[in-house]
Amino acid sequence: MIPRETIDRIFTTARIEEVVGDFVNLKKRGVNYLGLCPFHNEKTPSFTVSPAKGIYKCFGCARGGNVVNFVMEHEQLDYVNALKYLAKKYKIEIVEEERTPEQQEQDNERESLMVVCSFAQKFFTEQLQTDTGKAIGLSYLEERGFSQKTIEDFQLGYSPESSKALMTAASQAGYKLKYLVNAGLVRNSDENAPPGSEPNPEKCFDRFIGRVIFPVHNVSGRVIAFGGRTLRKDKNVAKYVNSPETLLYHKSNVLYGLNLARKAITAEDICYLVEGYADVISLHQSGIENVVASSGTSLTIEQIRLIRRYTPNLTILYDGDAAGVKASERGFNLALKEGMNVKILTLPAEDDPDTFARKHSPEELKNYLQTKAVDFIVFKTRLLKEDAMNDPIKKAGLIKEIVSTIAVIPERITRSVYVKECSRLMDLEEDVLWSELRTIRQKTLNDFSDEGIRAKAAKPAMAQPVAYDVFSAEPQEKEVIRVLLKFGNEETTFVGEAEGDEPPPKFTMKIADFIIESLREDNFTLENSVCRKIFEEYCIVYDKGEPITEEYFLRHEDPEISGMITTLSAEPYHMSDWSRRSIGIKTERDHLTETVEKAVYQLKSRKIEKMIHDLQENLKHPSTDEELGLMIEHKRKLDTAKRMFKIKLGRVI
Ligand code: CTP
Ligand code: MN
Repeated sequence: MIPRETIDRIFTTARIEEVVGDFVNLKKRGVNYLGLCPFHNEKTPSFTVSPAKGIYKCFGCARGGNVVNFVMEHEQLDYVNALKYLAKKYKIEIVEEERTPEQQEQDNERESLMVVCSFAQKFFTEQLQTDTGKAIGLSYLEERGFSQKTIEDFQLGYSPESSKALMTAASQAGYKLKYLVNAGLVRNSDENAPPGSEPNPEKCFDRFIGRVIFPVHNVSGRVIAFGGRTLRKDKNVAKYVNSPETLLYHKSNVLYGLNLARKAITAEDICYLVEGYADVISLHQSGIENVVASSGTSLTIEQIRLIRRYTPNLTILYDGDAAGVKASERGFNLALKEGMNVKILTLPAEDDPDTFARKHSPEELKNYLQTKAVDFIVFKTRLLKEDAMNDPIKKAGLIKEIVSTIAVIPERITRSVYVKECSRLMDLEEDVLWSELRTIRQKTLNDFSDEGIRAKAAKPAMAQPVAYDVFSAEPQEKEVIRVLLKFGNEETTFVGEAEGDEPPPKFTMKIADFIIESLREDNFTLENSVCRKIFEEYCIVYDKGEPITEEYFLRHEDPEISGMITTLSAEPYHMSDWSRRSIGIKTERDHLTETVEKAVYQLKSRKIEKMIHDLQENLKHPSTDEELGLMIEHKRKLDTAKRMFKIKLGRVI
């Protein structure tokens, strides 16, 4: 834990033009600096750095953020390590905060497990050089075509054919048996041992005996687990033995090879996903470095989100055998749901990525990967095509399946691209597909209830811009967030609703209170995930009574958050504020009440318009009279609310 004060010192000391200047040749242009963007290929500079605001922004690829974001993105570091990088550059000492005893114990345990994992990896690698290790382990790896460099890059190894080889070596080197057991390297056969007690060595055995070893690394390259492959052909022996779940290793959060792949994934802006250790290694050796494996488990949400930190583009390579089809289908459905651009690449039936890579030259391989990937519609159509296209029932089934996959895509615009494609490939009217799509979406996301709206809003942030969605409330949400952060701590006077002949009540309140209450009273969930995160965190900090400013979020560790604040403060509002002031026109600050009310009411009307629109769509296919009645009733209420907001807005605009 780096203390808040140190973080603040790093931010105030680090000069963004200097930090960026280490990597980009910057030229002064007025108050800003300009250079060639380090994140995408360009010939004319569109990458600007503003020392005054402490931010960078590329107008070509839309990347932007503060000084820490730059280091994170450029050096592929996490938040803490980016801070450490800057602290080192500016010679700021970091005294880490004291952790609670429990935290320390967990940290110590984690650290101890990493240390034994690293010891074990070195031990297994050394075994490749012993006489038997050479004859058995190394010769196997060489037979598989792995070069010396590849073996070193992936830190491959061999565990001897002896039940306590690692245990003994570790004990001689002074490592506690407890940690070997907790790291999953050694099995304890004593089931009755009290938890936390030092295990009995008599009852313990190495987990990976007589296997070649594939260490699994975390993103920063430390060993956290192992996979061991048998050298026997015997079908009764498990081909792979893997580390169990440990304090270090949660299988569903880890992608094999990511430590070596992440730079290439960012640079190529695409990630290839394969199944196994050997697949990653062979592709890597053939020059395809942006490749990771889910290692035997079917792809999880956490793994998809991990990939999405580096790129929205994912291509799943799956071997021609039928067994993989279902698993890869689940994988791409999940990835589509997360808003990724997913493609599927089928290899010839007799190959997996590993054998395919070995049979072809790197050029052929590259070419194959770049030209043969297809989207899921083509993939599914091909799967069923032969027997399905002439059989109307099978064809209908296939269409239903494709449409239900389209239905999970969170982006309206992406959905419509796929509808067009499906209509073309299946030779069907788009209207038919749209109506089917609506039925499915209605079933899955119940548009009426708050739940439904919330579920929709809970969809993750998209990689593509959403500006095309005519009913999107994102611009209004961003405006509310901007106003909240800029003026939240100030007070202003609002005019309430008049009752009877009484003059309308006036009340003065903090702008943050007004905005938070207004959004809470309607149970609004913001549809833009970053706005939502900011709003939620704002509420938590604010409820604790701590002051919170734009700065807090500008320095946020989540690059999506600081990135959004960067864009919000780079929007033209500030500029116009400033230029208007100079010619004597009143600014937002002079109209605080109006500014706040306008932001809140515009958001509310937008949400209502969207609800009315959805209802109207639904009214086209009512199923029962009772439902119809409810919908009409609901719509009447919404219409009234819409009129009310129109009046309110008429007053403030
Ligand atoms: N796997 C596993 N346990 C098994 C079989 C497979 O954990 N008993 C995992 C491994 O991560 C393996 C991946 O699933 O790499 C893919 O399995 P498979 O295709 O059977 O193995 P390959 O990677 O092709 O292994 P090899 O090329 O070494 O035969
Ligand atoms: Mn294989």
